[in-house]
This record gives sequence, C-alpha cells and structure tokens, in this order.
Amino acid sequence: MADPYDLIVIGSGPGGYVCAIRASQLGLKTAIVEKRATFGGTCLNVGCIPSKALLHASELYEEAGHGFGRMGIKASPELDLKRMLAFKDEGVKGNVDGVAFLVKKNKIDAFHGTGRILKAGRVEVTAQGGEKQVIEARAIVIATGSDVARLPGIEIDEQQIVSSTGALSFPTVPERLFVVGAGVIGLELGSVWRRLGSSVTVVEFLDRILPGMDGDVAKTLERIYSKQGLTFRLGTKVVGVQRGEGGLEVALEPSQGGTQDRVDVDAVLVSIGRVPFTDGLGLDDVGVVRDAKGRITVNGQFETNVTGIYAIGDVIAGPMLAHKAEDEGVAVAEILAGQAGHVNHDVIPNVIYTSPEVASVGKTEEELKAAGVGYNVGKFPFLANGRAKVNKTTDGFVKVLADAVTDRILGVHIIGANASELIAEAAVIMEFGGSAEDLARTCHAHPTLSEAVKEAALSVAKRAIHM
Ligand code: FAD
Ligand code: NAI
Repeated sequence: MADPYDLIVIGSGPGGYVCAIRASQLGLKTAIVEKRATFGGTCLNVGCIPSKALLHASELYEEAGHGFGRMGIKASPELDLKRMLAFKDEGVKGNVDGVAFLVKKNKIDAFHGTGRILKAGRVEVTAQGGEKQVIEARAIVIATGSDVARLPGIEIDEQQIVSSTGALSFPTVPERLFVVGAGVIGLELGSVWRRLGSSVTVVEFLDRILPGMDGDVAKTLERIYSKQGLTFRLGTKVVGVQRGEGGLEVALEPSQGGTQDRVDVDAVLVSIGRVPFTDGLGLDDVGVVRDAKGRITVNGQFETNVTGIYAIGDVIAGPMLAHKAEDEGVAVAEILAGQAGHVNHDVIPNVIYTSPEVASVGKTEEELKAAGVGYNVGKFPFLANGRAKVNKTTDGFVKVLADAVTDRILGVHIIGANASELIAEAAVIMEFGGSAEDLARTCHAHPTLSEAVKEAALSVAKRAIHM
C-alpha cells in the first residue's frame, strides 16, 4: 500500500473539490475519490452550471422575441434546441475540465471509483471495471452530496417523467410540461421550458410557492411568474401518473383530500426536493450517525461521531447550496491543518435565477416575528430606480430588515434584474455586523441597480430620496 494521505475526500462536488484544493494549499497530502467520470459533482454536471446555461440562453431567446422590439431592434428569433443544448454542454465541459486542471495543478491524487469507508482512516475505491484498491489517511471528509427526492409510485425514467437531470436535456420542447413542486428547481426549469414554448403548470402541495422564502417576496413572485405564463395549482398534490398512448395522465387532489382531478400532459418534472446521498459509503458498518432525514450528523468542526471522519455540503444539515458546500470545504480543510476554519451559517445567500432574479440573505420577516425580534423594514421598488427604468426591468424591490434597537441588518431580500450580484454587498455588510445606516451612507455609483439597495437601507429610517 502507498504512503498514507493526510486527507481523503470522497466526492468532487463544490464541497469536495474545494476542500481538497484548500487542504493541498495548506500542505496536506490529499486524495480525492469520485465515482463519476468527471469532477464537479451535481453542481457542475447536472445542477447549477447546466441550469444556468439554459436559463441564460432561454432568457435571451425570450428577450429577442419580446423585448428587443421596444429598443428598436428588429429580430425574429428561431429556436435551435439542439444547438442550445450543445451550448449548455459546452459550458459544463469548460467547468468540469477546469476542476480537473485545478486538481492536477494542486497535486491532488485523483481516484476514479466509488469510495467505501472500511474504518476511520481507510477507504476502499472500486473502479467502474470492478478493480478495488485501499487508500489510507489521517482524516476522511465525506462530500457525497445529494440525490433527487422521489414521489412514491411515480417512477422517474428521465424521458417523460424526469428529475432536474432529464429536464436539462429534453430533445424537443414538451408541449405541456407538468411540474411537481414550486421550489427552486420547478421555478427555474419551469421558466426555461415556458420561454422555449411549453405550456407549464406547477403543482405545489402547500398554499404558497417557495416555502422558507420571505412571504412578501414569494407572493410578489407568484404574481410575476403568473403574468409570465406559469400556471400554479397550490394546495394540491399529485397522487399518480399514468402512461398513456403518447402522453401522461396526472391524477391530482387537494392536499387536504377531496375530489380528484386528471390532466393530460406530455412530460412531468418531479422537483420536490433533494435528499442526502450516502449509498454505498458503508456508514452503518462504521457507525456514522445520521439524523431522521438521512443527513450525516456533525459537530461544530464538521466531525461525525467517529473520530477522523468528517462531512460537509449537501450530505449534512443546512441549505443545499454549492457555495455553502464550498465554504464548509474550506473550513474543514483549515481545521484539519490546525487553523480556525469557520462558516457563518447565518449569512449564506440564496438565489433563484429566474427573470427577474431573486436573492436573499439572512432572516425573513416570518422568522423574525417567530423569534420575537423587533425590526424595521426599508423597502424600495425598482420602479423608482433610474437604471431599472431605462432598462425597463422595473419588476421587483429591495427589502432591508434591520434590528429595531441596534439598526443592525438582519436580512435583505431582492427581486430584480441582477439580484444575484446585488446580494453580495448585503452579505458583506452583514458579515461585518453593519447597520442599515452604514449601508445607507455608503456611496453607490449612479446609475446602477445597486442604488436601490442603498435606497432600501435609507428607507429603514424613512428617508429614501427617490420615493
Ligand atoms: P455534490 O455536488 O452532489 O457532489 C457529490 C459528488 O460525490 C458527486 O459527484 C458524486 O458522484 C460523488 N459521490 C457520491 N458518493 C460517492 C462515493 N461513494 N464515492 C465516490 N464519489 C461519490 N446550488 C447553488 O448554490 N446554486 C445553483 O444555482 C444551484 N442550481 C442547482 C440546479 C439543479 C438542477 C440542482 C439539482 C442543484 C442545484 N444547486 C445549486 C445545488 C448544488 O448543486 C448542490 O448544493 C451542490 O452540488 C452540493 O455540493 P456537494 O459537494 O455537497 O455535493
Ligand atoms: P425545494 O425544496 O426548493 O422545493 C420543493 C417544493 O416541492 C416545495 O415547495 C415543497 O413544498 C414541494 N413539494 C414537496 N412534496 C410535494 C408533493 N408531493 N407535491 C407537490 N409539491 C411538493 O426543492 P427543489 O426545487 O427540488 O430543489 C432541491 C434543492 O436544490 C433546493 O432546495 C436547493 O437547495 C437546490 N437548488 C438550488 C438552486 C439555486 O440555488 N438557484 C437551483 C436549483 C436547486
């Protein structure tokens, strides 16, 4: 057997590969194990990256068809779906190849195969062909991510009944797309196919879209998406899907029970959440504890109940987001190198890449009310922002929630163009414990959408200028 490593990372998603790079930067002899042919995990292969490629391309397609005219640009776009899917695949390849380059550059030993933990410090890697080898290390980080949550009795074939993975590659535009779950995936991929010509219905078990998101934001979004052409059926559950000749028949009923209803559709996207993925890792044999939702339980240092075995990313508690996994990867590498790695889980931005974009960081109004925290609200609509007005991207607003006593910013919620970029300054100011007044007194360039963030902060003290 070769010399032992300081660290073996299992899984090369944003959590795993970032952890391996940081560990290597800190001088740890590091190996990474990945069962896929390419690095990058869910995010780069079948998640963040391909979905954003399709969101970008389909948004421009819609803009060319319906938005260019008002700027005096005549265009009659024609969809070449095959080319659009190739554009997406090129984006994925560029990114996964980039990670392969970084792994090599950082002198991380890569093992392609499925990792199984034999005991603390020992990992067996089984390659696709079945050959096995055992590698050893002082520490093991599990970064095996998550998998699609399934609906009992509804089999995903990735052709007609798809998860997000199939919905990233429909070879033709489904005439009638039925989306189960009004969460992030349903709204992002539902938007993609609506723009490309599908008639999209989104069914949601609860009586609101985007549970967990600020209620005011979710309500506004429901109105905006409905205006764009998404049809919502809230408070409804899917009870079965029958395959018929050429199509699918979906059986629905009210969430609380009641009369059944049937609709004919061409494709169904199941997007009801994701579950931690630990299959084949051998956790039961090693005795690694998981919670009722199957998430690996870790302490403040990301260590499991078994000394020397750590876990990060989607496979542990917290939002299933790439940047959360990345930051945990950095933190655990630093801890293993004897440094004080840490992630502030209170300041993790969350973005939905529809048009308009939606971004938030920190607490929602509902959370502050439930915690009994007094707060002031500053809200500023993009309708009153100069740049949004000229660009005609006036849908949405910025909302700043600040502590009623200290003025410290507790949450920022944005619906609007470029919200994914605008949220970064909110995260920075919150990380530094800044107040609404700090944000309001910071000079923002004109004319920019970011002025709406400043105005919302001014509005906390009821002194917005342009309203
Ligand atoms: P993963 O990325 O899931 O990586 C885990 C890796 O471990 C995989 O490559 C898997 O093959 C490997 N693996 C598993 N078991 C083993 C084993 N036993 N041996 C070897 N290898 C193993 N998040 C965002 O922040 N922004 C977005 O825009 C976004 N968009 C998304 C869009 C979609 C359609 C989906 C599905 C997800 C999206 N996410 C997004 C979520 C994001 O992809 C995840 O939060 C992120 O990938 C989690 O990273 P991870 O490293 O924990 O796990
Ligand atoms: P989700 O948790 O965001 O939404 C699932 C929705 O389905 C919820 O609204 C839930 O109430 C509903 N639901 C659950 N069971 C149902 C049922 N039986 N019938 C009808 N509705 C039901 O999950 P989603 O959209 O699948 O995404 C999974 C995760 O992937 C997200 O939580 C997020 O962490 C990550 N992701 C992040 C993205 C981003 O950051 N932009 C993009 C895509 C995914």
